[in-house]
Amino acid sequence: MVAATRSEYTPQSDGMAARLLAWYDKHHRDLPWRTPPRAAAAGKRPDPYRVWLSEIMLQQTTVEAVKPYFRAFLDRWPDAASLAAADQEDVLRAWAGLGYYSRARNLKKCADQLAANHGGRFPDTEAGLRDLPGIGDYTAAAIAAIAFDRPAAVVDGNVERVVTRLYAIATPLPEAKREIRAIVGDLVPAARPGDFAQAMMDLGATICTPRRPSCMLCPLNAGCAALGAGDPEFYPVKAPKAEKPQRHGAAFVAIGKGGTILLRKRPESGLLGGMSEVPTTGWTARNDGDTSSREAPFPAEWRKAGSISHVFTHFALELVVYRAEAGDRAAPAGHRWARLADIHDEALPTVMKKAIEAAISGATKTSRSIKRSS
Ligand code: ADE
Repeated sequence: MVAATRSEYTPQSDGMAARLLAWYDKHHRDLPWRTPPRAAAAGKRPDPYRVWLSEIMLQQTTVEAVKPYFRAFLDRWPDAASLAAADQEDVLRAWAGLGYYSRARNLKKCADQLAANHGGRFPDTEAGLRDLPGIGDYTAAAIAAIAFDRPAAVVDGNVERVVTRLYAIATPLPEAKREIRAIVGDLVPAARPGDFAQAMMDLGATICTPRRPSCMLCPLNAGCAALGAGDPEFYPVKAPKAEKPQRHGAAFVAIGKGGTILLRKRPESGLLGGMSEVPTTGWTARNDGDTSSREAPFPAEWRKAGSISHVFTHFALELVVYRAEAGDRAAPAGHRWARLADIHDEALPTVMKKAIEAAISGATKTSRSIKRSS
């Protein structure tokens, strides 16, 4: 346990914001959705549509993973009106690989509502933004601050780390969230609140990192309580995570005529709603659930090709993957044959890509879903 010292910064500390903003002016990350520091103060605010799109994409996905998706979406749908006019399936397909597909469905719903009720424009307050689909407390605060220069308290995982270290907050997360939000609310300066929000994110992402933070380079090191106590990595303290339940199932990769595979669509609501999949059994938490080829979509010579595992937010899944040659058999009701050569254009979640790859290459795959922090 680290003996906490007091931070030099009071939550009303102007000095802290000024130092951080001076650092941001020099060391900010150039990101495709950003305008340069001080641009908002000079009347050049970033396009709220770009800010919103980036924030939704960045939820639980890394900056590097988001960049190509952000550019592709902007090229294809440059504003809320064009996204509202888009086909839902095209949006899901363009999203495939970013994970958490409910975000893509909410993205479309949000664009629809903006087009229908707001003249295609974003509300410019946190409360107005929070009323839109897919926009929660964090995202409303981020858009209000970055796009509209509102003094909103923007707190993501990076900011939690910075603040728990600055103030040596030993209360475990998530219990400490309320205290952290209150501190950030008091720290936000009246001038340049959007730059302040992004500066906190950049400090957390590049200097105040989870492991081996670069405290020598930190503009706030003189007043950091955790550094003063000698062990910044001790913070943030996290409550122990409950183990994820393990589920099991089988996936059936049928190879049809001319290099095709059998796909079907998942129900619109629920996990991976509206995405494509190869036929599978139910995903059961029982060890004695049926993961055999008796559950296959049609009788054939189903051979075990391997197994894959995938970690979702609330459970871990292991799928035994079966493969069969189906010749020119017609697709069963609710299924269709899709060309393997065009598979990258399908709205296929990562878990299904792994299953198909295992069936084609015979490989056994164990890996995690899209990375969570940015
Ligand atoms: N993570 C979440 N929002 C971000 C932003 N606007 N810039 C950089 N990283 C982020």
